[in-house]
Amino acid sequence: MSATRSPPDPAIQVLERLGDGSARIGVIGLGYVGLALASEFAGKFETLGFEIDVKRVDAISAGRSYIGDVDSSLLAQLVRSGRFRASDDMTQLADCDCVVICVPTPLGQSRRPDLSYILAATRQICAQLHRGQLVVLESTTYPGTTDEVLLPSFEAMGLKLDEDFLLAFSPERVDPGNKDYRIPDIPLRFMPRSCARSIRCPRRAWQRLRSFGKTRSAR
Ligand SMILES: NC(=O)c1ccc[n+]([C@@H]2O[C@H](COP(=O)([O-])OP(=O)(O)OC[C@H]3O[C@@H](n4cnc5c(N)ncnc54)[C@H](O)[C@@H]3O)[C@@H](O)[C@H]2O)c1
Repeated sequence: MSATRSPPDPAIQVLERLGDGSARIGVIGLGYVGLALASEFAGKFETLGFEIDVKRVDAISAGRSYIGDVDSSLLAQLVRSGRFRASDDMTQLADCDCVVICVPTPLGQSRRPDLSYILAATRQICAQLHRGQLVVLESTTYPGTTDEVLLPSFEAMGLKLDEDFLLAFSPERVDPGNKDYRIPDIPLRFMPRSCARSIRCPRRAWQRLRSFGKTRSAR
């Protein structure tokens, strides 16, 4: 008699899709960090960029980079090939397996990061969040933001961390202008909250996830 295997949780399935390259990545905020990351991801995955500034969406669609670190000819090639496109239509977040938040966090009063952009992005994600998504916070913020701000908002949608969706944090993968510190060189830093589940993650997924980040240090 053969043992019946239960299907993997949706949260594990997203890691499998990252492992085999079939995941679709969404990047919210296409500034210095977001456009550089999105161009990098687009080399491996179909990537959608979400940006509220329509002029930036138009520039990307025309293959024109407005960020020094991102070469226009590479961008144009990614756009032409259909691997990367930009939009201000946030409903398309529903089509993404992995959503990366790269919105600004200017210092506000009392020199704490102003979370209003992260809160807006969180609302955009909540409106489209579904089982089997990984959300990565790349914006620089104070420790606790992932656990105290993002997680409760997502759980309020009736989804469970590590079973239905995954959450990660990575504040320092892009150093604008620094040619010696490049996104692919940065060691693996992503870690789901539950280590037990991460062990079930396919090895290839971990290799792909080198370009994602970890959640623990900034929780
Ligand atoms: N992860 C890293 O490696 C790393 C490195 C340096 C800085 N950062 C942090 O990344 C964040 C972004 O920095 P940046 O320099 O790219 O900022 P930026 O101002 O250059 O770009 C942010 C972009 O987000 C867009 N935006 C704002 N709200 C949005 C929303 N709700 N939906 C869609 N788009 C939205 C803006 O129009 C802008 O184009 C900051 O918190 C910064 O401190 C991260």
